[in-house]
Amino acid sequence: MTPPPPMTQRALITGATAGIGNAYARELAKRGYDLIIVARDTERLEKIAADLIAKHHVGVDVITADLATVDGVQNVANALTDTAKPVGLLVNNAGSSLVGWFGTTDIVDEDHQLDLMVRAPMHLCDAAIKSMTGRGRGQIINVASVAAFTPRGTYSAHKMWIVNLSRWLNLQYADAGVTVMALCPGFTHTEFHQRMGASMDDIPRWMWLKADKVVKSSLRDLAKHKAISIPSIRYKVLAMLAQYLPSSIVARIAKRGR
Ligand SMILES: NC(=O)c1ccc[n+]([C@@H]2O[C@H](COP(=O)([O-])OP(=O)(O)OC[C@H]3O[C@@H](n4cnc5c(N)ncnc54)[C@H](OP(=O)(O)O)[C@@H]3O)[C@@H](O)[C@H]2O)c1
Repeated sequence: MTPPPPMTQRALITGATAGIGNAYARELAKRGYDLIIVARDTERLEKIAADLIAKHHVGVDVITADLATVDGVQNVANALTDTAKPVGLLVNNAGSSLVGWFGTTDIVDEDHQLDLMVRAPMHLCDAAIKSMTGRGRGQIINVASVAAFTPRGTYSAHKMWIVNLSRWLNLQYADAGVTVMALCPGFTHTEFHQRMGASMDDIPRWMWLKADKVVKSSLRDLAKHKAISIPSIRYKVLAMLAQYLPSSIVARIAKRGR
């Protein structure tokens, strides 16, 4: 049975037009949440909003924003501090990756990635925490990756940053009624790798997760106030091994994918 939504029934999801973010939008609308969905492609956002409104009879607002820009982040932060439409759940999900390794990529592209993967969730966490602590309740999911537990260029460094921030925020603001959780999926079928232009042919089938299942298990972990959610037993084991195996072995294994 689908659990009922908590008291504040509005969720803001970044990167809701595809992959994991879109799975959050569909699952939360099904659970009766009103939504604010964010991405760069307005036409796609509006189509998704219309479909969710028709199917689940929830309210869906659309914000077109490039979260690698200062103005884009500010627009979304403004929605998080709007007292007329309080947001009870923030899902910081939008993300991408460069195909090349740091040292071979253009530093301008690395700046773009840093803004999208670190600056944007930091600003949105700031706006959400300030609003949520004022109301005495709230939830934040920061979509990271199991790559956070391995050395894999700037992508894994960005993800480790958000994992560590989430762990601390979850402790720091628990008494204020705010849960903050980092979601750390492994390879998940989405548009992510296709957008990177990366061939994933050598990744075995058993390593792939489904976005819908990732989202459902993350929402179960969020309800338990967990600081970190790692979907599936296989990735829980791999993440644990990454912490205890010698770092040279972990680095060699991690070379395979992101
Ligand atoms: N797929 C995996 O294997 C995997 C594994 C671990 C973690 N993750 C993480 O999961 C999150 C979601 O990835 P996904 O796999 O679902 O990717 P995806 O299918 O490519 O979806 C990415 C979403 O983010 C939006 N987005 C991208 N750049 C943006 C920007 N500059 N401003 C605003 N929105 C932007 C995209 O919409 P627009 O293009 O319209 O803006 C899209 O809605 C990411 O943080 C990723 O690092 C993915």
